[in-house]
Amino acid sequence: MTTLVTGIGELVTNDPALGPGPLGLIPDAAVVVADGAVAWAGPRSAAPGADRRVDLDGRAVVPGFVDSHAHLVFAGDRAGEFAARMSGARYDGGGIGATVAATRAASDGQLRGRLHALVAEMRRQGTTTVEVKSGYGLTAADEARCLRLAAEVTPETTFLGAHVVPAEYAGRRADYLALVTGPMLDACAPHARWVDVFCEPASAHAFDGAEARAVLTAGAARGLDLRVHANQLSAGPGVQLAVELGAASADHCTHLSSADVDALGGAATVATLLPGVEFSTRSPYPDARRLLAAGATVALASDCNPGSCYTSSMAFCIALAVREMGMTPAEALWAATAGGAAALRRTDVGHLGPGARADLAVLDAPSYLHLAYRPGVPLVRALELPGDAPSDTAG
Ligand code: NIG
Ligand code: FE
Repeated sequence: MTTLVTGIGELVTNDPALGPGPLGLIPDAAVVVADGAVAWAGPRSAAPGADRRVDLDGRAVVPGFVDSHAHLVFAGDRAGEFAARMSGARYDGGGIGATVAATRAASDGQLRGRLHALVAEMRRQGTTTVEVKSGYGLTAADEARCLRLAAEVTPETTFLGAHVVPAEYAGRRADYLALVTGPMLDACAPHARWVDVFCEPASAHAFDGAEARAVLTAGAARGLDLRVHANQLSAGPGVQLAVELGAASADHCTHLSSADVDALGGAATVATLLPGVEFSTRSPYPDARRLLAAGATVALASDCNPGSCYTSSMAFCIALAVREMGMTPAEALWAATAGGAAALRRTDVGHLGPGARADLAVLDAPSYLHLAYRPGVPLVRALELPGDAPSDTAG
């Protein structure tokens, strides 16, 4: 079964071979979808035939968002912590312990219900690929449980046993590190593609450079690829460690030294910016222009989690990146799609060239510019084409 999607007022392909600019823009476009993949994309006037036709009446189409950083397996609620921050309290990761307690106490069914609801909420807002981390279990059994659940909704599963040192290990950091790099990793590696660590010497709850190196090298030895929570609260060692160890992505990058910017500019490690976190923790936004000028590949992601940022909206992140981080609307959309794909080392998503997965996101607007131009308005959704192969967020 092939489907011809017509009436696309503006198509963003992220394929420079198909149209001008990094966005590969095509006005008055059409796309042919076959077996869940893009078979053809181009001007409507040149479109081949297909078994059936869907008309979008002039709406813009962009690649589905690739949200490369999210924490969706959890229980409980920390709205009170958010309210306290808005009255001046600082974020230091200490609230993570409350989510750990609630997550451990929750049943599989409760965790699964929240996880699937969040993935569906993302899909309704145009996200078609999402990475999901553990990190709220922090025992071998609870971390493995969270990763098994995450694998129900995405292949992009990340072991984050090194999120914080849990309360029962207070004063015994070395023992917890031995657990994370030993039995917990053994239990989790079969369910994870990635290993991550909250590298933040400025937080008593998180891990310093030496500890983070131990976690990442242990994960790599078990065949996991690397990503790092880096430089969120201070200009620490996280970014340069991520680059040195060949991590796919350094995430947050809120506080960057010139050496950090230079390192990201000369590396394959993607700089993943999470502007919803700066919004929700009242922190200074990093300057994306500095990174782009240095030649870094920039991604945008939601960091959807109950503590530092409880949004699932990539459109909101795009609007913040444009307004607060100095990105153009085109750069921000690219970062939320192709940039996210680069951060996950995926070539089948984040663009709509031939062979890509047919993850089309449709806007109730004539141009992608409306993503930032109309902040907070629910304009974008994943296009559902009945009968096509399911995508990563079909959970
Ligand atoms: O990416 N910084 C560490 N981890 C998460 C927040 C987790 C939480 O506060 O529950 C983050 O911001
Ligand atoms: Fe995070």
